[in-house]
Amino acid sequence: MLSLIVNGKPREVDVAPDTPLLWVLRDTLGLTGTKFGCGEALCGACTVHLNGAPVRACKTPVSVAAGQKITTIEGASGKAAQALLQAWVELDVPQCGYCQPGQIMSATALLTHNHRPSDADIDAALDGNLCRCATYQRIRAAVHHAAAKMRA
Ligand code: FES
Ligand code: FES
Repeated sequence: MLSLIVNGKPREVDVAPDTPLLWVLRDTLGLTGTKFGCGEALCGACTVHLNGAPVRACKTPVSVAAGQKITTIEGASGKAAQALLQAWVELDVPQCGYCQPGQIMSATALLTHNHRPSDADIDAALDGNLCRCATYQRIRAAVHHAAAKMRA
């Protein structure tokens, strides 16, 4: 048994220690907001936070996350996440939506520490989050919009 803290709640999971965190979240715990894209830490679809920092759940063995604070899109909360979720709706960011939980988790990590990100800051923070629908311009606009709301 491994003890995890997922979205603020303690969870016990009976899985092999080298199981990717992504599969534990999706299959064992039923948190399907985190997506599988490449499985190779190349696309960002599986991005979650480990102690507030974005990580690729597809390449993170669950044993690494044991006892750490794991946050998925279902548990995204706090000022930055709320501002971003609202901005995503207001600017109608998603197209197919598949990549968007990962985009929002990376953006949340950025805005938590930087309330006035430049275009370059946003591009750097979201560089590893690919979008097949090419919503990059709307994502960038929504991050600026959320940052402005946070400063207001
Ligand atoms: S599924 Fe993890 S980075 Fe693509
Ligand atoms: S919205 Fe379709 S992959 Fe990003």
